[in-house]
Amino acid sequence: MELRAEEVLTLAARVLSEERLQHTLFVADHAVNLAKHHGLDQIKARCAGLAHDLAKELPIKDQLDLARRWNLLYCPEDEQSPYVLHGRLAAYWLEHYYKVDDPDILAAIANHTLGRAGMSRLEMLIYSADLTESSRDFPKVDKLRQSLYDDLEKGTLACVEHTLIYLRENNRSIHPLTELTYEDLQRRIKVGT
Ligand SMILES: [Fe+2]
Ligand SMILES: [Fe+2]
Repeated sequence: MELRAEEVLTLAARVLSEERLQHTLFVADHAVNLAKHHGLDQIKARCAGLAHDLAKELPIKDQLDLARRWNLLYCPEDEQSPYVLHGRLAAYWLEHYYKVDDPDILAAIANHTLGRAGMSRLEMLIYSADLTESSRDFPKVDKLRQSLYDDLEKGTLACVEHTLIYLRENNRSIHPLTELTYEDLQRRIKVGT
């Protein structure tokens, strides 16, 4: 089934707090602007942006239980840091309960928390829009936003790098998928693929 932005918005308004809904709307707007700039599908960008955090506010125990039931745990670190699971959960939920069958949108939702090796441009866009939407306010956020307009791949690499630095500085564990995403983007930019 084709995902319509109005339907996702209705769903988001139903399951998210006011604050999370506001963030969701900012991500969708930012994603659409970036998509327009880079010649990507704006409707897919809006839908993925609106849907990316649909599962974020489920209690963390429920997220873990659902991830187990739906076979969405890929490595031990997923269980150690279950807050990374909500992207995969939202994508699975939409695919299996709302019959959404657009693989680009589903992948962008599923991988917005950690990225993956071989990300599509839409996946990069949602990953990065999540970090740099207009209400985000941290040193260098303007620089990251500009780098995303200059070059989506390099801008996404800068976003992943920012996340890695933040995690290291705060003694937080680093998920192997985030490291893989970083290495893959570095390699792709180097060899131009
Ligand atoms: Fe998220
Ligand atoms: Fe988000």
